[in-house]
Amino acid sequence: MQDKVVLVTGAASGIGAAAARRFAAEGARVVLADINETAGTALAAALGGHFVVVDVTREDQIERAVARTVELHGRLDCMINNAGVVGAVGSLLETTAQAWRATQAVLLDSVFYGIKHAARQMREQRSGVILSVSSIAGVMGGLGPHAYTAAKHGVIGLTRSAAAELSQYGIRVNAVAPGTTVTPLVEQVRGGREAAMEGAKQVSPLGSALLPEEIAASLLYLASDAAAHVTAHTLVVDSGVTA
Ligand code: NAI
Repeated sequence: MQDKVVLVTGAASGIGAAAARRFAAEGARVVLADINETAGTALAAALGGHFVVVDVTREDQIERAVARTVELHGRLDCMINNAGVVGAVGSLLETTAQAWRATQAVLLDSVFYGIKHAARQMREQRSGVILSVSSIAGVMGGLGPHAYTAAKHGVIGLTRSAAAELSQYGIRVNAVAPGTTVTPLVEQVRGGREAAMEGAKQVSPLGSALLPEEIAASLLYLASDAAAHVTAHTLVVDSGVTA
């Protein structure tokens, strides 16, 4: 990863923050993008990287983040589409079209924008890696809320179709599908870190909680030359939950 240029969305917290830390530790030049300016700016400063404030539901803002990255570093080697929320919860029968749409905007539209604008730059370079964070809710139903599940399945489908188109430019496109990972998102749902750690342990067939650093390690593998011929793939990192 030495001197590779990496743009991470949702980098102010959880999996995105762990990825930014890990890639920076491996020598990459990291650009952190998030809607949370305070936390994103602080982490970028600590890592010697840059921060761009981005709402991933806005195509123009993702396009601008890619342009800013290229302005800073001259290229984009790896794009990580990670920003996410839980979104609409509850019965499908009670889900409003508005809540559904808002969830798709953060979880799926954002990945389309990220792939599109990263790939336009990478096509010029004739190289690059695009990674997106799906979920085990992207490979099976019944685990999460409906809008989230549909969006995360969509991320995997888009990963495969984009990989098929973009191979001709030397661009690889992959996804990771984490199981329950102890991040602020899960801590919020569970009501605190201890409860989140306990809950993650309980759902893990391996008996230990999955941490964001482990998802970052999988992203690092997929971004690296060790995965030079891995594309259109979704790496499930779930302690065996979907076995
Ligand atoms: P988190 O809540 O710790 O971090 C998410 C980050 O995304 C935050 O910094 C937030 O500000 C940012 N964000 C949210 N909406 C945004 C927007 N519109 N524009 C820009 N940034 C925005 O969550 P976590 O757990 O790190 O989630 C990261 C990704 O991993 C998400 O896509 C999530 O669905 C996925 N995931 C998480 C799992 C978990 O158990 N934590 C399991 C499977 C997938």
